[in-house]
Amino acid sequence: MQLIDGKAVAEQIKKEIAQEVADIVANGGKRPHLAAILVGHDGGSETYVASKVKACETCGFKSSLIRMEDTVSEDELLAKVDELNNDPDVDGFIVQLPLPKHISEQKIIEAIDYRKDVDGFHPINVGRMSIGLPCFVPATPFGIIELLRRYKIETSGKKCVVLGRSNIVGKPIANLLMHKGYPGDCTVTVCHSRTKDIKAECLEADIIIAALGSPHFVTADMVKDGCVVIDVGTTRVPNASAKSGFKLTGDVKFDEVAPKCSYITPVPGGVGPMTIVSLMHNTLLAGKKEIYRK
Ligand code: GUN
Repeated sequence: MQLIDGKAVAEQIKKEIAQEVADIVANGGKRPHLAAILVGHDGGSETYVASKVKACETCGFKSSLIRMEDTVSEDELLAKVDELNNDPDVDGFIVQLPLPKHISEQKIIEAIDYRKDVDGFHPINVGRMSIGLPCFVPATPFGIIELLRRYKIETSGKKCVVLGRSNIVGKPIANLLMHKGYPGDCTVTVCHSRTKDIKAECLEADIIIAALGSPHFVTADMVKDGCVVIDVGTTRVPNASAKSGFKLTGDVKFDEVAPKCSYITPVPGGVGPMTIVSLMHNTLLAGKKEIYRK
């Protein structure tokens, strides 16, 4: 069994990005600029956005954090999105989700200029990705693809089971893994809450991508020998002995599943660190105007 060290790969990619940014700036180019809008004070969102800002520093990007109270109206948030769309200094930006109930997330996502949509959530990016055109690929699926690539894990003709059908992870990773080429060329099955026999599906799988948000859902009896297991789960499970009061818990019962695997990602330190680095990758592409020109 080989552990997939997402933290180490993420550190390596950040170094590569920082080097490229240094070269761009040394040659008189523009330093990439990522802006993030954070609405309210949700603990998880605060942590994620702080990590994104810190990663920007490591990569040599300029970053702007725009805070809005959770009483902000949808129109006020739309006006801020419009302002960033039209700010030539901002190469890409994100609106951290979830948003308060009175704001339509879909409306906000669709208001973002797709050329600055470094989250890859705008329908134009989603559509372009689904037919294999250049686009911003969402961070978590991109991070998974990059781990498979850097560990040279064989994917061609493999049976891949994706657990979960979210717009952010399940649907896009299923799509990417069935694309032509490497990493890809998989035969993909997507399982969800209405799937008849998830265990039987998993037992057929050469690769399992667990993205349900259901702690310890995948157990040893669901995994065949030599399987590649990618755990996307990051549920905060209360834990009195942890300093933070919770323990980040994956969708896979790691201790019993790991011995059966050829490769497995831990939680934390697997897919998580790759997600933020993927956003940095997209910001670099946005800064270089490599995908879209305005
Ligand atoms: N909330 C949880 N994950 C994400 C993400 O990747 N992007 C944004 N904008 N919000 C999130």
